[in-house]
Amino acid sequence: MFENLFVDYNGAIQHIIINRESKLNALNKNTLAELHTAIYDAFNNDRVGGIIITGAGQKAFVAGADISEFSSFDSSQGEQLARNGHRLVFNQIENGKKPVIAAINGFALGGGLELALACHIRIASDNAKMGLPEVSLGLIPGYGGTQRLSQLVGKGKAFEMILTGDMITAQDALQWGLVNHVVPQDELISKAEEILNKILTRSPLAIETAIGVINSATQPGVDGYEKEIQGFAKSFNTPDFKEGVSAFLEKRKPDFQRK
Ligand code: COA
Repeated sequence: MFENLFVDYNGAIQHIIINRESKLNALNKNTLAELHTAIYDAFNNDRVGGIIITGAGQKAFVAGADISEFSSFDSSQGEQLARNGHRLVFNQIENGKKPVIAAINGFALGGGLELALACHIRIASDNAKMGLPEVSLGLIPGYGGTQRLSQLVGKGKAFEMILTGDMITAQDALQWGLVNHVVPQDELISKAEEILNKILTRSPLAIETAIGVINSATQPGVDGYEKEIQGFAKSFNTPDFKEGVSAFLEKRKPDFQRK
């Protein structure tokens, strides 16, 4: 049972709803700890194939890290805040073995946009607004935003968003490649489920390998092409590969076992 999250299941999908609506779902310490636990549980629960993260209510996905919690922090407390966040939640999601989709249902600001950036796929509702406004607080993004935003939209647009601190609309985010789809708010979860359910028909083991190899493209000192060769080769020894190829040749749907 969580204080600041609502966790629900629909088939093999685990929904995680950040549930602090009165604070626009701002990420306080407890919410981050609960997110870590909920994601850990999902990654280790055989009945869960993937995760959709969204925010409670119709106004905000997450309006950032909880400003009231760090208002009196010094540099070493700030470092600890960022380091723990990276490790416990943001890197956990990005490098996880199951697909995670952010369903951005309103404001995704600061740590909220960084949470969405750590997810593998982003879908936004047409009322969503996204930004990294930290410079207006005398800070810079601290949960991976400077790196992941540039990777998605390129350095030029990342400079503009981070240096102005301005929010962009869902339509701009779509045009910039920051989100994959924009849909009306009442279709947001069904669109995210549609995409995730498609992914869940594929080999979970191949999905896990693909996530790791795609991520290696942005890991310093890691040769992504070599990782791809190794991941590709390893796949041939898996029962999932045998099942996938047999199903194709027998003109039937595969029954993958994550093996
Ligand atoms: N941290 C803590 N509390 C937050 C918050 C955050 N990041 N974002 C919103 N809240 C709280 C507000 O303090 C307010 O609480 P209160 O009712 O107890 O006073 C409540 O959520 C509603 O927010 P409010 O500002 O009244 O809503 P709004 O519609 O006028 O404005 C925003 C919406 C998103 C533009 C505005 O809340 C905002 O700018 N939030 C901060 C965004 C930010 O800088 N994030 C990066 C943090 S590093």
